[in-house]
Amino acid sequence: MTLQGKKIVLGITGSIAAYKACLIIRECIKKGAEVQVVITPAGKEFITPITLSALTHKPVISDFFAQRDGTWNSHVDLGLWADAMLIAPCTASTLGKMATGVADNMLITTYLSMKAPVFIAPAMDLDMFAHPSTQANLKTLENYGNHIIQPQSGFLASGLEGKGRMEEPEKIVQALEHFFNKDLTLKGKKILITAGPTYEKIDPVRFIGNYSSGKMGFALAEECHKRGAEVTLIAGPVSLSCSKDIHRIDVESCEEMYHAAVDNYKNADAAILCAAVADFKTAKTEKKKIKRGKDGLTLELLPTQDIAAALGKIKKKKQVLVGFALETNDERDNAMKKLRKKNLDFIVLNSMRNKGTCFQSDDNQISILSEKDIVDYEKKNKNEVARDIIDELEKRI
Ligand code: C5P
Repeated sequence: MTLQGKKIVLGITGSIAAYKACLIIRECIKKGAEVQVVITPAGKEFITPITLSALTHKPVISDFFAQRDGTWNSHVDLGLWADAMLIAPCTASTLGKMATGVADNMLITTYLSMKAPVFIAPAMDLDMFAHPSTQANLKTLENYGNHIIQPQSGFLASGLEGKGRMEEPEKIVQALEHFFNKDLTLKGKKILITAGPTYEKIDPVRFIGNYSSGKMGFALAEECHKRGAEVTLIAGPVSLSCSKDIHRIDVESCEEMYHAAVDNYKNADAAILCAAVADFKTAKTEKKKIKRGKDGLTLELLPTQDIAAALGKIKKKKQVLVGFALETNDERDNAMKKLRKKNLDFIVLNSMRNKGTCFQSDDNQISILSEKDIVDYEKKNKNEVARDIIDELEKRI
C-alpha cells in the first residue's frame, strides 16, 4: 500500500503524544506523501516547529499571519490543497472546538474549511476520554462524516492505565492508506466466508443449534467487500442483511454448508471459516413432531462434517485458510491443535471468559495464532476486529 502523491494536512494539538507526530510524518513521507503541519499554540509547547519543519521540509503553520512579514496563512487554500486532514494527537479541547465550530486558532479554521476527508486520532487521559461530553463530541464529529481512529488502552503519561492512549503512528498511517487504497487492497481476490450457526433438524419444529448471531462473519464479509474482494458468504440461519454485491448463499445444516463451502473453495484465494457449525446431528430426523412423553427422549447423535478440516485437505499451495476457535479452557493449546489438525494458516481465538464478547455481542476480543507467533488484541467492536483479521489475511494472500 502507498500514499504516493497524497497531500496531507497534519494537525497537532497540545498532548504529550505530540512527539509521536514525528513518526507519523516520517511514515507518511516514506509512503510517498507530502505533509503540511498546522499546530495549535498548545501543541508548540510539546514539540517545536523546527523539528516538524525539518521533517516535512515545509514551514509549520500556527498563526493566522506570519509575524515576520504579515503574510496571511490561508486556511481556505489548505482546505483545497489537501487530499486528507489528519489531527493526531487530538485533545479533548480541540474535539470540543471542532464539534461546536469554535474557530479560535488556525487548526480549527483549517478544519472548518477542509474539503478533504478528516481523520481524528484522540489522545487524552482515560477519564477525559470516558467523559460523556468527550464521547458526545466524538459522536457529533463522526456524524459529520469524520473518521475517528479510536485510542487504545494502555499506559498513559499520567501514570494511569486505560483507554485514551493515541493509536500507534504506524496504525494511524495504515488507516489513511486503507482509505486511499480501499478499493485496491483485495481487488481481484475471491474470498469465501462462513458465518452464523447451523441448525441440525431433530423433527419439523426442533433443532440442535447454538447462540451464534453471525455478526463477526458478516463484519468480515463487509470488510473484504470494502477492500474490493469478490466475496461469497455462506450464512447459516441468521437475521442479518449484507451488501447486495456480496454473493450470499443461505444454508441451514452443516451438510448444506459443507457442500457450498467445498464447491466455492476451489476457485477462492482464501476462506475464513467463522461459522459456529453444530458438531452433532441426530442419527435420524423425524418426519412428524415428536410427542412429549413421561419417559423423556433419548437422541442418538452423530458427528457432522468438519468443513474446516475438509478444506484443509483440498487446500492448494497459494490458498489461505483461516479458522476460528471458541474455547472455555486451555485456550491456546486447543487453538494450536486445531490450527495443525485443520491445516489452517492462522486461527482467531475468542474466549468465553471475556465478558461482553463472542456470541450475540457487538464486541469481540481476539488473539491471532499462527505457527510463527501469537498476537493479542484488545476488546473492540466487531467491525474493528474484522479490520485486524483482514489486515492479517492481507499479509498472506
Ligand atoms: O473444532 P472446532 O469446531 O472448535 O473448530 C472451529 C473451527 O472449525 C471454526 O473455524 C469453524 O468454523 C470450523 N468448523 C467447521 N466445521 C465443523 C466444525 C467447525 O468448519 N463441523
